[in-house]
Formats: sequence, structure tokens, C-alpha cells
Amino acid sequence: MNIPLSAPDISEEEISAVTAVLRRPQLSLGPELEAFEHDLAAFHGAPDAVAISSGTAGLHLALITLGIGHSHEVILPSFTFVAVANVILQIGATPVFADIDPTTLNLDPASVRSAITPQTRAIIAVHTFGIPAGMTTLQSIAREHNLFLIEDACEAIGARHRGQLAGTFGHLSVFGFYPNKQITTGEGGAILTQSQEHATRLRSLRNQGRVPGSDWLDHHEPGFNYRLSELACALGRVQLRRLPEFLTLRTQAAARYNTLLSNIPEIEPPPHTLPGSEISWFVYVIRLAPGIDRDQVRTRLAEQDIATGRYFPPIHQQPAWSNSPHARAVDLPITQSIAPRTLALPFFNRILPEQQNAVAEALKNAIQHAKTGAKP
Ligand SMILES: Cc1ncc(COP(=O)(O)O)c(C=O)c1O
Repeated sequence: MNIPLSAPDISEEEISAVTAVLRRPQLSLGPELEAFEHDLAAFHGAPDAVAISSGTAGLHLALITLGIGHSHEVILPSFTFVAVANVILQIGATPVFADIDPTTLNLDPASVRSAITPQTRAIIAVHTFGIPAGMTTLQSIAREHNLFLIEDACEAIGARHRGQLAGTFGHLSVFGFYPNKQITTGEGGAILTQSQEHATRLRSLRNQGRVPGSDWLDHHEPGFNYRLSELACALGRVQLRRLPEFLTLRTQAAARYNTLLSNIPEIEPPPHTLPGSEISWFVYVIRLAPGIDRDQVRTRLAEQDIATGRYFPPIHQQPAWSNSPHARAVDLPITQSIAPRTLALPFFNRILPEQQNAVAEALKNAIQHAKTGAKP
């Protein structure tokens, strides 16, 4: 039984919506874009949303729009996807890696405080794996030190912290719609903003510095092509409508894994509920007990066609980053002790109970063989 790590959930409704776009002449910058942005803003109760070509593009434009650049420092977790750090470096600023909370795997406020210097300009709070970060505390820290707070909600659409949706706390917030995400546009993303001024600038930057009403070949600042096509927006609109159904299915799948894995002492499951939080399940990531050889577990599962992921190797230890003179890290004991033990299991809306049973059974056997010292 081949069990993938993730799988998009595309129905006839998405296929019809995309096909309808193909029957029209306008394939970019048209009514689907406008409607998708409207739907995203309305879902979040935010004044505006700007759709862009990827989550990475969204983070890039967020930093530029907030005026972050050379000589500035930006605090972020090392335990996250590398794009978050890459964009900081690419605008000439310095990424400063802070540690994470051992339960939520999100930024630890005490570590964030210890990372602040006179050069700090912003904090990027990532809602890792769909578990909401402690946004109210991070908001207080940002206010206290006059910093921008950017939310990376690429993994967390629909999550809530104290009843409030992820993406509605930051000065700017970024979503990603790659096919492994809760909703997909193939490739794509969006930036949620509370400010009309920011929205106007973001729309110009994503479209080569053009401004509404001017000629196609007039460029008011150096911009980018970070546009999202009409096809992608049509797909995104249907996916967004189906999000509540998707989140229910994912919560049920996570609960099933929790039950199936509860009698394996070498596995620490992810938190299923957190006081005051609603998780938007992105991936299902367990932690193996110290001493279990993760690579050996992964190999055994791969031999049975069960995909797994190392979510996430810390960024500051990545080959592209480990010798970088352009980044700084405070002490990261939690990141360093947890990251080598994490294992993402197959997880998607339509995962079948029998597939989850097979994963749990294979995992149990693999762990027995992978205890340190055991022969494979
Ligand atoms: C936390 C986080 N930030 C940013 C990104 C980048 O998004 P994209 O792949 O759409 O560029 C991702 C995507 O996986 C992510 O998980």
C-alpha cells in the first residue's frame, strides 16, 4: 500500500471552476483574483487580502512593505521552513534565530526577548504545523520594543488563538497554498493586511511596480512578478469554501492517529488540544524517544511504501546556513533536542483508517528494530 505524506483534495467543483476560467480570455488579473482576495479577507474579517504567487513571495513583500532592510535584524524560529530565513537574508537584513516552546514548537517569548537588540526591527511568528503561536504575548513584546510583528500563517489557515484567527494578529500576515497545505492553489499565497496603504503597495510590488490607472509599461518602483493566475484563484476560492470540511476531516485523522499510537511508549504524539487554541492540522508530527534511530525508522517505513518527513531540520544547521556569517542564533536547546527526533507521518484529508492502521503497525515494528544498538 503506497501511502504518501500529503495529498490535495480536489473535487469536480474545483475542476469546473478552473475549466470555466479556461473558457474566458482573461487568465491573469481578472475577476477570480478580485473574488479570491475578497473571500480571504471576509473569511478573516480583515480589511484586505492580496494574493501572490507563493508564501515565500508573500514573506518577501511583507518585509519590503514594512521597510525592513540593511542593518536590521529580524527574529524568527530556526525550527521552521527555510524560506522564512531566506527572504530575510535576501533583503539584506540579519535573521536572528530564537528558540521554541517544547509543547507548541512555536517561538518561546523568553527566547525572543533575549534575542532583541537595538537593530531588531521585526519578529516573524510562525504558526508551526497549524498550532497557533502565543500571539498575544508576542504582540505585547512587539509593542514594548516598537517592532513589527509578521505572522507566517502558511501552515495554519483557520487556526485560532484565544478565539481569534491566525493571520489577524500581525501587521502583515502571510499564507501559503502549496499542494501539501490545508487548501491549495497549486502554487500560491496571500498577504492579509489591516492597512489600505499596505494593500496598495503590495499590489504594486507584486505587479512590477505598476499602479492602478497607469499604463502597463509605467513602473513606479522596482517590483516583481508575484501575481497569482486566474486559474489558481478560481481553484483557491472553491478550496476556501471547503476549508471547514477539510479541517474537520484533518482533526478526525489526527485523533485517530493519537488513539492508534497511544500504546507505543517510544512515541510522543503532538498535542491534540491546547487550552485556548484551535489547531488547523497541517501535518501530523510525532517525536521519537531519545535513542531511537530516526533514519532507520524512516528507511523501514519507506520499504513499505510509507512516506515520512523530517519536519524540520533547524535552519541554522542546514548546509546553506551553518557557516553563514549573515545570521545569528541565541541558545536553541529545545530546537536542538527536539528537531532530530521529529517524524511527520502520512496525513491528508482522505487518509483511510486502514492506511492509518498500516502506518501505526509499521511504525511499531520499525521502532522495535531501530532502538539504538539493534541490528537492522
Ligand atoms: C512556515 C512556512 N513559511 C513559508 C513557506 C513558503 O511557502 P511557499 O512554498 O508557498 O513559497 C512555507 C511552505 O511550505 C511554510 O511552511
